[in-house]
Amino acid sequence: MKLRRWITVGAVAVATAAAVNTLPATANRPYDPTAQTLGALGLRHGLQVGTAVDLAALNDANDPEYRRLAASEFSSVTAENAMKWESLEPTRGAYDWAAADQLVEFAKRNGQSVRGHVLVWHNQLPAWLTSGVADGSITKQELRELLRKHITTVVNRYKGKIWQWDVVNEAVSDPWDTPSTLHYKGFWAQNLGPGYIADAFRWARAADPRALLFYNDYNIEAFGSGNPADDKTQFVHDMVKGLLAQRVPIDGVGSQGHLGTQYGNYDTLQVTAALKKFAALGVATAFTEVDVRSELTEGVQAGNSAEINPRLQAAAANFSVLMKACLAVRSCLSYTVWGFTDRHSWVPGWFNDPPQGMATIYDENYQPKRAYQELKSDLIFAGPPYVLPRVAPRPRH
Ligand code: G3I
Repeated sequence: MKLRRWITVGAVAVATAAAVNTLPATANRPYDPTAQTLGALGLRHGLQVGTAVDLAALNDANDPEYRRLAASEFSSVTAENAMKWESLEPTRGAYDWAAADQLVEFAKRNGQSVRGHVLVWHNQLPAWLTSGVADGSITKQELRELLRKHITTVVNRYKGKIWQWDVVNEAVSDPWDTPSTLHYKGFWAQNLGPGYIADAFRWARAADPRALLFYNDYNIEAFGSGNPADDKTQFVHDMVKGLLAQRVPIDGVGSQGHLGTQYGNYDTLQVTAALKKFAALGVATAFTEVDVRSELTEGVQAGNSAEINPRLQAAAANFSVLMKACLAVRSCLSYTVWGFTDRHSWVPGWFNDPPQGMATIYDENYQPKRAYQELKSDLIFAGPPYVLPRVAPRPRH
């Protein structure tokens, strides 16, 4: 690993450590790692442990435990929806920064880093933009200029306050799409061609010389056939390699980590191998949206523990696979859960036929689940000589 480009993430860790609630050992209270937060334990390895934050829940005065845990348990936060284009510019030319600003302020108050999500995505775009393109009132050239202006405006506003940006999200198709051969998908590829990806990174870099710039996607936790025609992880790997060859300023790859206990998923060695393969390209990695959902069978909904317990244990195992792999690879910089309580999770609203849920690390009553305990033990028992402080890239220029 070319260390001159990489910096050991001591500084970031130390800075944030001071903020995350760590119970100092005293004479009559020996150091008890199990009493530490996930955020504090992560910093032992220079690893940021984060959560997506739902601003509506954060501002709900009747739900104080959400704000308490969001502030204290994690060393990093991501806006679940507040930094998406439809939220920031619902009306053309009129930006609404309130919710996004609030999250950045919240993070600052709690000594947390911020992952910016998301500058370019085919979903949650403002209606004025998609309808303008659809009716031709917005030309391709104008669309490209609007994209450049959006990236520049947003990144400039949060310059120096965002640690990692998801610059481009979910640009690659899936084997179940048509055609099944993997390709660049979505609104931006259809209207601007895949060249928009390199443009987006260059515009983001021009606006913030220090933020780490990430490509973010799902179903890239491990390699499959190794053929980019049907292996999404290989496609993304080759895409990043190509961008680097064009000297595009991409610093990292975000693996979302949306898993389900009903699927085979991966073992720790498979995921570690994938992270190492991206590290060999010279880019950092991060798990950016981890949750592990389960089918809410009639037995589960009826409270049948014989159906519930295996799902809780399987979910914990999958959360842990990703954490252990991340700890084992020094260029894996952060581990973010996509919501930390089943009370506020996107899963039940999205996966409702058949119904799915139980996807996060705390239950609806903010009681830590097996998954929380497994993540905590991974962070406690991992350490030198097997796990060493993180190494992050210097932002490419
Ligand atoms: O804000 C409106 C509100 O005004 C309206 O009353 C309500 C009723 O429909 O909808 C609200 O918008 C919802 C929005 O979340 C904010 O809560 C949208 O309907 C809903 O579709 C949207 O879901 C978000 C989803 O992205 C949209 O694609 C989820 O909360 C969010 O967790 C999810 O996150 C994505 C990542 O950004 C990218 N990776 C996958 C991940 C899961 O889909």
